Amino acid sequence: MLDKKIFEENFARFCKMKDRAKEDPNMLRFHIYPEAGWLNDPNGLCEYKGIYHIYYQYSPLDENKSDTCWGHVSTVDFINYKREDIFIYPDAKFDKDGAYSGSAFIKDDRINFFYTGNVKHDGEYDFIKEGREHNTIKLASDAYTYSEKKLILDNDDYPKDMTKHVRDPKIYEKDGYNYMFIGARSLEDKGLVLVYKSKDLDNFTYHMRIETDYDFGYMRECPDFFTVDSKDFLILCPQGVESETYRYQNIYQAGYFPIEIDLSEKTYKLGNFKELDYGFDFYAPQTFEDSKSRRILIGWMGMPDANYTNPTIDYKWQHCLTVPRSLSVKSGKLCQNPISEMENLRKDNITLKRGENYEDFVFEALAKNIKDSFKINLRSDVSLSYDDGILRLNMGYSSFGRDTRQVKINVISDLRIYSDKSSLEIFINEGEYVLTSRVYSEKAGFYSKDLDFDLYTLDSIGFI
Ligand code: FRU
Repeated sequence: MLDKKIFEENFARFCKMKDRAKEDPNMLRFHIYPEAGWLNDPNGLCEYKGIYHIYYQYSPLDENKSDTCWGHVSTVDFINYKREDIFIYPDAKFDKDGAYSGSAFIKDDRINFFYTGNVKHDGEYDFIKEGREHNTIKLASDAYTYSEKKLILDNDDYPKDMTKHVRDPKIYEKDGYNYMFIGARSLEDKGLVLVYKSKDLDNFTYHMRIETDYDFGYMRECPDFFTVDSKDFLILCPQGVESETYRYQNIYQAGYFPIEIDLSEKTYKLGNFKELDYGFDFYAPQTFEDSKSRRILIGWMGMPDANYTNPTIDYKWQHCLTVPRSLSVKSGKLCQNPISEMENLRKDNITLKRGENYEDFVFEALAKNIKDSFKINLRSDVSLSYDDGILRLNMGYSSFGRDTRQVKINVISDLRIYSDKSSLEIFINEGEYVLTSRVYSEKAGFYSKDLDFDLYTLDSIGFI
């Protein structure tokens, strides 16, 4: 439980944490990070009255996560950001152990937020099958304030064969109905997505479930259903999928099913699951459509329960969001590319010829018309190499437990690398593949004997 009063009583401690974070040599330049404390999933993404609102899972007083609130930043141009007050505190009886993830749905000139209120009962429970409530809560809001937290669904409203892990609502509107997609774990340890239906956004009834007819993990977190280029996609984060040599290398996955679905007939056909990212730190992405009709995705640059860590903990903060990415469809697959506003960060343009070294951490680098195998040093101790149809990201001694990620890619024709002080986002073949990772090398050193790069030095985003 954390409410506004408790936060204010601890404000001096929070300010000390903020001061400490400012001293961190690994502080980021063009990513959204918490001023102090812990950040995870992006939540409630929307554009409302010309302003973009980005909320996120936030523990302001604990860099290792507790008492999850919704943090909030706003922007009109994705360059200048405003840090807003904490939006949701876990201060009600039905969200007292965390205002967990959720989403925004704009209707009739107001934002309806839906999120999961996490409640843990006192006592000895496994907190999977018992001892937990996952309440679906609604707020009607102007982006900054709300009048009441309204309980929409609770444990009794979920199908009887569910565990107590049912969370992360996202709304999709079709033919005058609102469909709520929620991630779930069944009593048989099968991950699935539940769909609820509503006419008025207050009364939701169970409609259908979406599941694989094969074994694919015990849980789904953060489902997101949407349409791009007239094709439907279901993003979700499965837990419990076994790692393979070239796929599913992280403890949990973040990816999507292309899906053909008839919501009124309750029929669907899932395509093959595809990962959205092949790096070490990408999870719980969420999308929204903006007034320019772009489907924008932002992910959490982190990974829950991973066996690698972040030295930023010593500086009282942890994790960040990815750069905003716009989604498109190529041969039935989702591609991610940084939104065009990111180009406004570009300063000097440098042609980096093969064999030349660039000695800074923060840059954007582009390589086109790639024909052969290559090796690139991204840092003094971090490399990206492509050979025999396998791309390998090799992290060095300073990567706090991150080692190697490898992915099968038939042809690589272009690369766009966004490098921040302690992060890398590598976009391949115009966003067909992406690798996102935190990185903590002490020494820069961008270099390739095989490729020429068009490189840009970058400005920082600003926070007021
Ligand atoms: C995903 C997740 C969500 C949950 C939230 C809690 O990272 O576990 O399922 O709502 O984080 O912070």
